[in-house]
This record gives sequence, C-alpha cells and structure tokens, in this order.
Amino acid sequence: MKRINVITIDGPAASGKGSLAISIANQFSLKLLDSGSLYRLFAFFERNTDYSEIVEIIKNRVEFKLTNESQNIILDKNVDITHELKSEEVAKSASKLSSQKEVRNLLLKLQRDFYQGSGLVADGRDMGTVVFNDAKLKIFLTASPEVRAKRRYIELQNRKQEVNMPALIDDIKQRDLSDSTRDISPLLPADDAHIIDSSDMSLEEVFSYAENLIRKEFI
Ligand code: DC
Repeated sequence: MKRINVITIDGPAASGKGSLAISIANQFSLKLLDSGSLYRLFAFFERNTDYSEIVEIIKNRVEFKLTNESQNIILDKNVDITHELKSEEVAKSASKLSSQKEVRNLLLKLQRDFYQGSGLVADGRDMGTVVFNDAKLKIFLTASPEVRAKRRYIELQNRKQEVNMPALIDDIKQRDLSDSTRDISPLLPADDAHIIDSSDMSLEEVFSYAENLIRKEFI
C-alpha cells in the first residue's frame, strides 16, 4: 500500500491526543486536523440547519487557527466559538451524532480534504482505521479513565467551570463505552498503530516518545 504523509493520533476522550497533535503540528510544521472539532461543529449548528448545509457552513464560514498551545475556531472571520465548542453539552451531542452513518459519511470527505499532499497530523477516533488508513505513522494514545478524568478536572477548573470528579469519571466511562461499541467506526487502535499508555507519563514524556517515532518512521 502506498503510504501518505499523515500522522494519525486516535484515542479515547481526554487522553491528551489533542495536545500531542498540536505539539507535533508546531514542531514539525504540519497541518492539523482535529476531527473531534468537526463533530462538535456539527452539534453546534444542528439546532437550526439541515445536515448538508452544515457541511457547507464548515467549509465556507469556519476557519481553524493554530497557535502554540491551542487551535482556535473562528466563525465568519471574527467570532471565536472555541469556548462554546468545548462545553460538555456540545460534547455529548457530538457523541450522539457521531454514531449516525449519514453524519460520518458527510464528514469523511471533509476530513480527507485536509490532506493536500504535504504533511498532516490528524487526531480523533477513526483516523488510523478509516479516514487515513493509509497513513505513514499511526499512534493510539490512551490512559486509565481515572487519570483522564483527573486531567479533564484540572482543565475545567482552569477554565473556571464547575466540576464534580465522580460525575466526570462516569461521563468518561460512558463516552468510552458508546465510542467503542458503536457499529460504525468504533474507537479501536489500527492493527499497525503504536499504542502509548500515558497513565504514568507527563505530556513531555509522551511528546518525546512520539517524536522518536516520527524521526524514525515519518521523516
Ligand atoms: O475528541 P472530541 O471529544 O472533541 O470528540 C467529540 C465527539 O466526536 C466524541 O464523542 C466522539 C466523536 N468523534 C468521532 O466519533 N470520530 C472522530 N474521528 C472524532 C470525534
């Protein structure tokens, strides 16, 4: 199989794949696809628009701006909707929508269009198994539900949002279950993915492990 210049990073909610993808994109000057944000955008616009129109809105009115630490999502050139998209309400509705075949099919082409021949790092749930199954390097990043809940707890506290640890652990387990047991594109490592369990690793350690893989297998 001819392999394309894509690094895929899949994994469960709050496994740190988003931060890893941003660090890799910046370090290696690659384009970034945060596929979860497309499902979140779908959920965000779902209330007042039909499905094919949502794809047009994402294509024509939404911009993804990568900075050193984050990706900002801008609507109509000047409305920053990053914060709204990160809410738990949008996350839950995105999770529900993501089990619909029609939504996954509509987003498939949009996701593949992020790859323009030069390098891309793509994070999500099915980047290595479905969307870019011919990617040169595949990483599956995971951590225990407790560790992931703790990371999400700190993140939400920093954003001054109210949090309840037992509810957060339940939420994460629930999301894991529905993401990994749905019929289409369930969350699974690709056969040729490198699995990293980051339960006992810092973000720096994860990055350095991934960096070694990239230098060995991608560049
Ligand atoms: O990574 P995230 O939390 O931003 O993703 C939001 C939801 O979208 C998540 O519940 C699962 C879904 N998703 C998916 O089904 N496939 C992807 N490639 C990315 C996200």
